[in-house]
Amino acid sequence: MRAIRVSLFGFGNVGKAVAGALIGKERFFREKYGIALKVVSISDTSGVVWLPEGIDLREALLVKETLGRLSAWTNDYEVYEFSPMDAVKEIEADVVIDVTNDKNAWRWHLTALREGKALVTSNKPPLAFHYAELVGEAEKRNVPYLFEATVMAGTPVIGLLRENLLGDRVEGIEAVLNATTTFILSRMEEGRTFEEALKEAQSLGIAERDPDGDILGIDAGYKATILHCVAFEPITFDKARVKGIAGITRGEVQRVRARGKTIRLVATVEMGKVTVEPREVSLDSPLAVESHENAAVIKTDLLGELAIKGAGAGLKETASGVVSDVIKAALRL
Ligand code: HSE
Repeated sequence: MRAIRVSLFGFGNVGKAVAGALIGKERFFREKYGIALKVVSISDTSGVVWLPEGIDLREALLVKETLGRLSAWTNDYEVYEFSPMDAVKEIEADVVIDVTNDKNAWRWHLTALREGKALVTSNKPPLAFHYAELVGEAEKRNVPYLFEATVMAGTPVIGLLRENLLGDRVEGIEAVLNATTTFILSRMEEGRTFEEALKEAQSLGIAERDPDGDILGIDAGYKATILHCVAFEPITFDKARVKGIAGITRGEVQRVRARGKTIRLVATVEMGKVTVEPREVSLDSPLAVESHENAAVIKTDLLGELAIKGAGAGLKETASGVVSDVIKAALRL
């Protein structure tokens, strides 16, 4: 049995779902891969709980649920006031997980990689703005830098492009990458108002804490930028042309539906070009997804057209991508 030390950054909804998955799959990981994951630290915005022998995740979840913050957990554990950068330097770990919303996390991602720690993340801005530096550093040091959950949650589009299709040249990708907007548009087709649908998406944990990023197409733009980096070459989000779904009315989506089509927020990714905009899609297209689904149609020179579709948001669905990357990192270390 190989023990892998994990340092978890972020203990909001996704962090808690990751902890839940690690608890539920402990035996499965031991039996299938011979790997025992030991979480040695957990950070939220209130502090860092650190125990080299391993933290009791059930207790951590209980504390977070009942007391709301890790810093309230003072009876059994030491709580430190480390910045993420200090925590990455100080805490000995094999795999660092970033499920925060920290836009500046790329700085401590780089530090973790320089220290030889594998990094697994669902946090999009570091990749959408600093892909070349981060992946370059990881390759230079031969350390895993894995980010499946940044695009399409656990639906493995990143793995498909990064680890399969290695002999194919990608010609273009069309994709629906934001679940909140799909959810809102499909609910509006059923007769709900924009506001009602947005509230529901928030209550289901699909929308970002600040849903403007979803509505304005920024979240889809980040994801499309990451796809460009993986499928073509590094680019940054400021090169993306992005338009969201604000201003689309219930009447409009219902009229389009009556014509046998549906409006979806579609990202187009081609060499040197990333766009996101609402488009009419035929109902028989793989892009005519519903609810919290995402889909991508990838065109390559050898394989032709390939479609991948699945959950694009949700807590356990995002945890699926994160945990799968943790296992991948552990197997490579
Ligand atoms: N807010 C995102 C979405 C969550 O709606 O797709 C997953 O990245």
